[in-house]
Amino acid sequence: MSLADILARHKGREGPLLPILHDVQAEFGHVSEDAIRDIAHDLNLTRAEVHGVVSFYHDYRSTPEPRPVIKLCRAEACQARGVEALVTAMTPNPAVKVETVYCLGLCSVGPAAMVGTDVYARLDTAKLEALVKSL
Ligand code: FES
Repeated sequence: MSLADILARHKGREGPLLPILHDVQAEFGHVSEDAIRDIAHDLNLTRAEVHGVVSFYHDYRSTPEPRPVIKLCRAEACQARGVEALVTAMTPNPAVKVETVYCLGLCSVGPAAMVGTDVYARLDTAKLEALVKSL
C-alpha cells in the first residue's frame, strides 16, 4: 500500500491525522520526512504541525527500527508480578529493542508484553527468552 492509498482511505474523515500516521507507521515501519511533507500537504497542515504530532507519540518513529520491539509493561500490577526481573534479564539484548509501556490491559495476567499487535501474558524469564528467539 502506498502513502497515496493511505491518504485516500482517510479522505473526508474527521480528525484523520492520527489514523493516517498509524497506518503509515504500520505500513512502512516509520514516518519519514517525505511522508510528513505529503501528509501535511494533503491535510492542509504545516509540516511543523505534523512533525509535532509524530515527535510527541513515541510509537511513531522517524527512522525504521531494524530490531523487533518488545513493549514490556512496567505498571503497578505487572511490577507486583515480577516484571522488573524480566527487564533485568532483557537488558542489554542486541537482538531486540525493549521499550517500557504502562498497562496493556492485561493486569490480572501479567507480566505482560506486546510485540506488534500481539500480546503476551503470564511471562517469566523462560517464556520471554522463547519469545525473543521466535522473533
Ligand atoms: S499493569 Fe501491566 S498490563 Fe496492566
